[in-house]
Amino acid sequence: MPHLIAPSVLAADFANLQRDIEMINSSQADWFHVDVMDGVFVPNISFGFPVIEAIKKYAKKPLDVHLMIVNPDQYIERFAEAGAAVITVHYEACPHLHRTIQAIHAAGCKAGVALNPHTPVTLLKDILADLDMVLIMSVNPGFGGQKFISNSLDKIAELRAMAALVNPGLLIEVDGGIGIHNAGLLLKAGADVLVAGSAVFAAASPTEMIAALKQVEGRLVQHS
Ligand code: DX5
Ligand code: ZN
Repeated sequence: MPHLIAPSVLAADFANLQRDIEMINSSQADWFHVDVMDGVFVPNISFGFPVIEAIKKYAKKPLDVHLMIVNPDQYIERFAEAGAAVITVHYEACPHLHRTIQAIHAAGCKAGVALNPHTPVTLLKDILADLDMVLIMSVNPGFGGQKFISNSLDKIAELRAMAALVNPGLLIEVDGGIGIHNAGLLLKAGADVLVAGSAVFAAASPTEMIAALKQVEGRLVQHS
């Protein structure tokens, strides 16, 4: 499996959402990255179920839903019904993370856990075998267009080594400040899925930018 590219819909033009979804459909992108923010866990509010359902109506690729919300357990079934293929919750928002992961799987979705920049990957040791994906936040969550935090590269490498022992098929996703300038380094460190918002949608040709990100080489591991 080559690395995956997940354009973040947060950076799309919401007045032309269908057009931007069709652009992703016809591009080399693999997933739609869908950022849900509640104004409590992060200092910003994005969108909820009606918009996700509208995305799902036109999207021909899996929806990768990143929940930046407190108490995500309350809404997991609704996100699954709205069309999520992958549901990622934040470690920092889940006091009963094992139960939350079970609920995501019971709803028929792949389960991911996101880590804020200050949260060490070692805290995932006892849940790693149960996860499909870990999302390393390479900016503080809440906004697109921020600067990449370079310490994320060490976190990816450390997590890749941890996963090799207990869950070699684990996907490592990275989110925030990603573009053509750092994609190769991220893949080399052990990333599998690159999220890109502003790099894609601010590009002169978003389709060509997605193709360029897809063609970057340097991937550390090739999962089957
Ligand atoms: C930030 C979101 C990201 C954001 C990335 O909280 O989780 O997915 O859209 O945007 P860029 O690629 O512009 O940093
Ligand atoms: Zn995100």
